[in-house]
Amino acid sequence: MQLVHTPQALRAALAPFASPAFVPTMGNLHDGHLDLVRQATTLGDVTVASIFVNRLQFAPHEDFDTYPRTLQADCERLQAAGCQVVFAPKESDLYPVPQTFKVHPPTELADILEGHFRPGFFVGVCTVVMKLFQCVFAEAKGPRFALFGKKDYQQLMVLRNMVSQFAMPITVVGGETQRAADGLALSSRNGYLSPTERQEAVALSRALRALSEAAQPLLANATTDVAALRQSLQHLEQSAKAQLDARGWKTDYLSVRRRSDLNLPHPGDAAVVLGASRLGTTRLIDNLEF
Ligand code: PAF
Repeated sequence: MQLVHTPQALRAALAPFASPAFVPTMGNLHDGHLDLVRQATTLGDVTVASIFVNRLQFAPHEDFDTYPRTLQADCERLQAAGCQVVFAPKESDLYPVPQTFKVHPPTELADILEGHFRPGFFVGVCTVVMKLFQCVFAEAKGPRFALFGKKDYQQLMVLRNMVSQFAMPITVVGGETQRAADGLALSSRNGYLSPTERQEAVALSRALRALSEAAQPLLANATTDVAALRQSLQHLEQSAKAQLDARGWKTDYLSVRRRSDLNLPHPGDAAVVLGASRLGTTRLIDNLEF
């Protein structure tokens, strides 16, 4: 496995290959990332991962400075999963001048849910992913693949739309969320939890499951009137939020949406329930399709 730091070195490392399969990450890798890497090895003729903690997607009060940076351990795990090239640029390699050109995703997709609570987050994500794609795929001649986890469900949807609207010749692949034995979605931020918080953390995925089970029969009834459906869903969401907050969480949202565009659902729509909540100082997100 080759470790490279500059876009130029990355292009040289990828020159012999036609068809990269790329897993962008911010490092501190867990089995969710490694599952994507293993999937990537079955897609292209070279498997590439990037490790870059992207300042552009963090608000000033967020955890950019403390985000765990574990390059050596990450490289060992990447190699064991079959990765061939790791791109780990320094900030000055990827942003040699301030990144004033940015990608602005549409409000209706990117300013709801995560984007509502983390203004500018998806601008930062789209901008860095666009740039990483230029570095990884610029010279590719064959099919190109980019893999993202479904745990960041809205991110996956925003990036799918970016790739499609810019007619980028890249197939975006979504990987299933990997969970601990108790159901907690794997996340680099789980490492911030104290042992007591770690025990409590499963309550978020349980809340999402309970909410999806309560919402399922309402959505399945295709004859329900839309306004009545939305009122009932809102009622379920509010009581789920109240229950979680009563356990000591501070919930940003628990919301049932339709899968296709993350808008409010109509009767009969395939749905997903998404949630973000803070336990102590750790903000966790999760979702469940149903
Ligand atoms: O999901 C992440 O780790 C990041 O948002 C990504 C896609 C690597 C962009 O920095």
